[in-house]
Amino acid sequence: MTIIKDLSLEERILKLKEERNAVILVHNYQLGEIQDIADFIGDSLGLSQNAAKTEAEVIVFCGVHFMAETAAILCPDMTVLLPDIHAGCPMANMINAEQLRQKKKELPNASVVCYINSTAEVKAESDICCTSANAVKVVESVDNDEILFVPDQYLGHYVSTKTNKKVHLWPGYCPTHARIRDQDIIRLKQEYPQAKVVIHPECRPEVIALADEVFSTGGMVRYAQSEDVSEMIVGTELGIIHRLRKENPGKKFISVSEQAVCPNMKLITLEKVLWSLEEMAPEVRVPEAIRLKAKAAVEKMLAIV
Ligand code: 13P
Ligand code: SF4
Repeated sequence: MTIIKDLSLEERILKLKEERNAVILVHNYQLGEIQDIADFIGDSLGLSQNAAKTEAEVIVFCGVHFMAETAAILCPDMTVLLPDIHAGCPMANMINAEQLRQKKKELPNASVVCYINSTAEVKAESDICCTSANAVKVVESVDNDEILFVPDQYLGHYVSTKTNKKVHLWPGYCPTHARIRDQDIIRLKQEYPQAKVVIHPECRPEVIALADEVFSTGGMVRYAQSEDVSEMIVGTELGIIHRLRKENPGKKFISVSEQAVCPNMKLITLEKVLWSLEEMAPEVRVPEAIRLKAKAAVEKMLAIV
């Protein structure tokens, strides 16, 4: 008699993933159990670079909607699944294409740089895209001294301190990073005087002013591995702590605030990943006319990094 051993959720996902010729891409803010089943885990830049070169037929995107949408923009022949279609990014929804078209009329001489945390329609209206890892480099690469930066005012402000260009800001922001306060950092610096303070550029300027280093989540992961770091105060969403501790067992990682949680990132669970692979849904697609224009903005970015 054959004994059929029950498979765990993770085992069922990995088995079905092979059958579907799928790849699981995971953002650094995802739940630990999701990070642990990743084929690739990274920041927005790494994820879009990885999506652009994967040879799988299916991408299961464990992140938020604009990330899956970016994969769909770059890989039109692949099936891109987002295990919970409600996993959006509030900041990406703080500007729409019509509002951007209006602003462009008010600033006819400015080039538009859009943060990757934006909808495909907004990317389609932009000259070039950027992520938190390359925003300064992208703005410097633009052959124009006047820039309209959308939608993140704090990332845009940070970039403006690193360039001589005139940067117009759109008043968007990340609600999760906006909850990180300068008082939190000041208190933790007193408690852990040896610790390096590493802050994400989506944070408020007064928080960034207290940083030893300002990095994207991918930059934080690399910096944590360096010999200079034995203790690190981590100024970003809490999910990254799982990865930092796993990859650096002897080091101490201190989260800045229990409030720094992105509820949308946490909507993706193992159950939903399995269901998504079983049903091959929900699929993220971008209408072709918008996709082609948005792709030009994303590919311009990928060409310079
Ligand atoms: P990065 O991982 O690219 O630094 O972005 C942070 C973020 O908020 C993604 O939503
Ligand atoms: Fe959007 Fe902020 Fe969540 Fe990132 S952490 S997905 S920017 S709300």
